[in-house]
Amino acid sequence: MSNKNIVWHEHHVTKEHRAAIKNQKSCVLWFTGLSGSGKSTIANAVELKLNELSKHTYLLDGDNVRLGLNKGLTFSDTDRIENIRRIGEVSKLFVDAGVIVLTAFISPFQKDRQQVRALLEDVEFIEVFIDTPLEICEARDPKGLYQKARKGEIPNFTGISSTYEAPKQAEIHIKAGALSLDQSVEQILNYLNLNGYLNA
Ligand code: ADX
Repeated sequence: MSNKNIVWHEHHVTKEHRAAIKNQKSCVLWFTGLSGSGKSTIANAVELKLNELSKHTYLLDGDNVRLGLNKGLTFSDTDRIENIRRIGEVSKLFVDAGVIVLTAFISPFQKDRQQVRALLEDVEFIEVFIDTPLEICEARDPKGLYQKARKGEIPNFTGISSTYEAPKQAEIHIKAGALSLDQSVEQILNYLNLNGYLNA
């Protein structure tokens, strides 16, 4: 519910000031893709590279956020929408803090990702589609969840009994099934470099 008596307070120190002391432009690298597509692995490797370049980052990761901030949210459509809404708001605060944020959530619905994009300035939201075919994710099955989902033991499982709406125009499209981890990381780092995110 909105409250007309609450007003956003402008600070003397802006996000540009905060980002400038890190010699970077703050943004969100919004990883989206199926479970097992490699979102977390690639996001982790990208964060490591950025850290080696002395960039100030923070990684918000699906399972970890669901164990804390979003504890209690299920995988119903309504709860997934709320999951993504909260992560979008948290990401926005981190961007305001001058940080390069990486988020690794399935975020299956186009509309929800669009809403997060709308929270931020144009160049601040970088959608990274980790495009790994379902067959590969399912063969990997790192947590054994696809097997359980096929047996009907997990309701609303993305790709099996709940939809995944692929991005139509992601800023970065990673065909992760056909690339090595290093190649995927390089593609993302190149994008950040070419578009000036790694300088103030
Ligand atoms: S999202 O759809 O709301 O964006 P999120 O990324 O937070 O999902 O969580 C996905 C992770 O939760 C998966 O990688 C998997 O480990 C686990 N999980 C548990 N149940 C489900 C389910 N029904 N569908 C998808 N992932 C699930």
